[in-house]
Formats: sequence, C-alpha cells, structure tokens
Amino acid sequence: MEQLTPRQIVAELDKYIIGQKEAKRAVAIALRNRWRRQKLPAELRDEVAPKNIIMIGPTGVGKTEIARRLARLAGAPFVKVEASKFTEVGYVGRDVESMVRDLTELAVDMVKAERIKGVQERARELAEERLLDLLFPVSRLPTTPGVEQPSDTGTAASAAETREKLRKRLREGKLDDRTVELEVKDRAMPMVEIFSGAGMEGMDINMKEMLGSLLPQRTKRRKVKIGEAQRILAQEEADKLIDVDEVRSEAVRRVEDSGIVFLDEIDKIAGRDSGHGPDVSRQGVQRDLLPIVEGCTVNTKYGLVRTDHILFIAAGAFHVSKPSDLIPELQGRFPLRVELASLTQDDFVRILTEPQNALIKQYTALLETEEVKLDFTEDAIQELAATACAVNQATENIGARRLYTILERLLDEISFEAPAMHGAQVTINAAYVRERLQEIVKSEDLSRYIL
Ligand SMILES: Nc1ncnc2c1ncn2[C@@H]1O[C@H](COP(=O)(O)OP(=O)(O)OP(=O)(O)O)[C@@H](O)[C@H]1O
Ligand SMILES: [Mg+2]
Repeated sequence: MEQLTPRQIVAELDKYIIGQKEAKRAVAIALRNRWRRQKLPAELRDEVAPKNIIMIGPTGVGKTEIARRLARLAGAPFVKVEASKFTEVGYVGRDVESMVRDLTELAVDMVKAERIKGVQERARELAEERLLDLLFPVSRLPTTPGVEQPSDTGTAASAAETREKLRKRLREGKLDDRTVELEVKDRAMPMVEIFSGAGMEGMDINMKEMLGSLLPQRTKRRKVKIGEAQRILAQEEADKLIDVDEVRSEAVRRVEDSGIVFLDEIDKIAGRDSGHGPDVSRQGVQRDLLPIVEGCTVNTKYGLVRTDHILFIAAGAFHVSKPSDLIPELQGRFPLRVELASLTQDDFVRILTEPQNALIKQYTALLETEEVKLDFTEDAIQELAATACAVNQATENIGARRLYTILERLLDEISFEAPAMHGAQVTINAAYVRERLQEIVKSEDLSRYIL
C-alpha cells in the first residue's frame, strides 16, 4: 500500500476527513518519503531521517483521525500514545520506551496474522486429517498380538474407504451436530492475574508470559462440536506451520523501517519553567523522549529495536503552552509544523454527510436495522451544523465532537422507541431539529450539561 502517491494519500484521507489540507499534505509526504527511502542505496538510506511532524490545532478538528487513517493506509505498525501518560524513568508509571515495545508487539501480531493467512489452506487440510483421526481412530482396528489378522490388506483398504466416506460427509457438513473430544490448551492461570496489576504494564518482560512458559502447559480434554473442533485444530496447525523466528525478525524490521508513533497530547508535557510539582516530571519525560525520537535502541521481548527511522507524529492543542515551550532539543526533532484550522459551520455540514463513516450515515444505518427509515432534509443538516457551532461558541469548543452529542440528543426519542416504530419513515427537517434542541441550546447552563 505504501506505493500510494502523496496525491492519492490525500485523496484517501479526504474520504474521511473534511478540510485540514495542510496536515494531510504533510503526512502524505512523510509517508511517501519512507517509501522513497527504501529505494535508496544502503549507505544513503541510513542517513535519511524521517521528518517528524507536529500537528497543532484545537480539540476535535481531526488530528487523531488523520493519524489513524494514515496508519491504515500505510499498513504500517502504528501506535497512538498519550504523552501525558508517561512518567520519567525511575518513577512509577509507564516509561517512554514502552511505546516502542507496544509497537513491536503490534507488528508481531500483524505479521503473524499475515503468515497465518498464507498457511490457512494447508492448516485446514491438516486439521481435517486430524479430525478424521479423531472421528475414526486407526488404532481401533483389531491388533491383538498372536492372533492372525483376517486379511490385513482388506481391513486397511476398507479403513481407507471408510475414512474417505467420512471425509465426504464432513465436508458436506453432515457431521456438524456431532461432538469430538479434544485436547485443548488451558490458558487460564488464575494466580498470575494477581501480579499483573496496573503498575506492571511497563515492565520489560511480560510477567504473564514468563510465568506462563515456566509453568507446564496445562491441557484439558473438552467435548466440542465438529465446527469448533475444525477451527481449533486449524489454529493449532497454523501455529505449527509458521516460523516464529521469522515472524519476529520481520516484525522488528517493519517497526524499524515503517513504524509510526502518534504522540498525542504533546502540549501537556510542554512547559519549560520547571518550578514544582508535575512540571519537573514533564521535562523529564521530554528528555526521555529525545533519544527515542532521535534514534536509540530499545530492548523488547522480540529483540533490540532501533528507533532511528520510526516516524513520529506529535499532536497537541497548544492552548496554554506553545510548541516553543518544548525543550529546544525536542523542537528540533520535529521540524515540520502544521496547523489545523477550527471547523466552520460549512465544515460541520460536510462532516455530517460526506465522509464514508459520516454520522448521518451511521445513524441511518443503525435505525434501519429496526426497519425505521430516517430521512434528513438539507435544512435539517444546516440547522444541526448551526446548532453545533452555536453551542461550541457558547460553551466550550470541542470541534466535531459536538456533532456526536447533538445527534445523540436529537435522536434520543427515536432511538428509544424504534423497536415499536417498525416500518416507520421519519423525516427529520429543520423544524424537528429546532423542536428537539432549542430549549437546551437557548439555556447556556443546560447545554453545558447536556450537549
Ligand atoms: N475534519 C474532520 N473531518 C471529519 N471528521 C472529523 C474532523 N475533525 C474531527 N472529526 C471527527 O471528530 C472526532 C474527533 O476528532 P479527533 O479525534 O481527530 O480530534 P483531535 O483533533 O485529535 O482532538 P484532541 O485534541 O481532543 O485529541 C473524530 O471521531 C472525527 O470523526
Ligand atoms: Mg486527539
């Protein structure tokens, strides 16, 4: 997927995000640059550092959304972390290196899923054989020592025949009601749960996994339906077919070459004049971030991971602090700054209707499952957008998120009554919108609590 041109990337993003052209361009270029870098001769390739980006803009204007969609497009390992969640190394909490570990974990899952897809067909075949073994054990043939076998070849031939008959019935789904007994891995380890509390998540080694591998793998026999058995066996066979080491090294390679870390809320750790309290730690977190963004080696469960070429996209509202409040070294690591604009009423109209996941589409589809057909008139959409703007101005500007609260409120009645409205067709026009929302919008106090 990384072959998309910047223009195509922007076009893809346009399907979900309205406006914010500058930000889209910046991330599109960054993504394309990774692909360009891959094509360079090795010596030069190592020299090209990713151009990390800071997205600056008020809340709810699409910063996170852009990053999320971008990651999907890139098919690259992607994590989103809140900068404000980290604590300085040495303090209780998550240290910044954990983001690289998370990224690697994710990449391993990603590669594994791909590999499993590749061996699925073979795994299914093997699972079928094992299932047939279970349904018709070969050892059931009489093998009493000393007693002469009545025409050995004949039994074998008929056994094979029976097996094929069984296979046919299995494939036709005629055995679906039967159950077989399976040896399944017992994953539950009740004791370990006690240890792995909140403070443990940042640990270098996953305690659970460590203990898990120390304890003998417990298995238990379970009776399962044929369909379920097929699934379990296929999963087991697939696990056996893939090369774990190859998966790990490919995952590490992907993280190093194309990983993307989205550092949200970066403004929350800005603030240089360290006085007391959390500020001290904030600066510490910024310092800890430096080596990771600049390039260092992080020890993960899957081996050492270099962070030199991981792309970092930071985002923050920067209401109180400014990008210039970040420590200078860190500012230098994010050479690209893009600003996202506040959303206007026209933007709201488009956000409500245009994106592939537009809210109006979502609600219409949801209610359609109850056979209630919603029809939004154009002036209703305008009215909704205007209301969102008005409430954003009167209370707090939470950007497009306001649309969620407003729509939820608008459709509250219908959502509740829908099951009883079977087959109804509801037209939502401006008058309906006004009727449902006006009271609340008019009273600033009310809207503070409800919308
Ligand atoms: N420009 C836009 N086009 C379409 N949808 C948008 C846009 N901006 C925001 N949204 C919608 O609003 C929601 C919130 O947006 P998002 O999470 O990107 O906000 P943000 O800019 O990251 O805000 P914050 O600073 O609070 O993290 C998203 O679910 C998204 O669907
Ligand atoms: Mg966000």
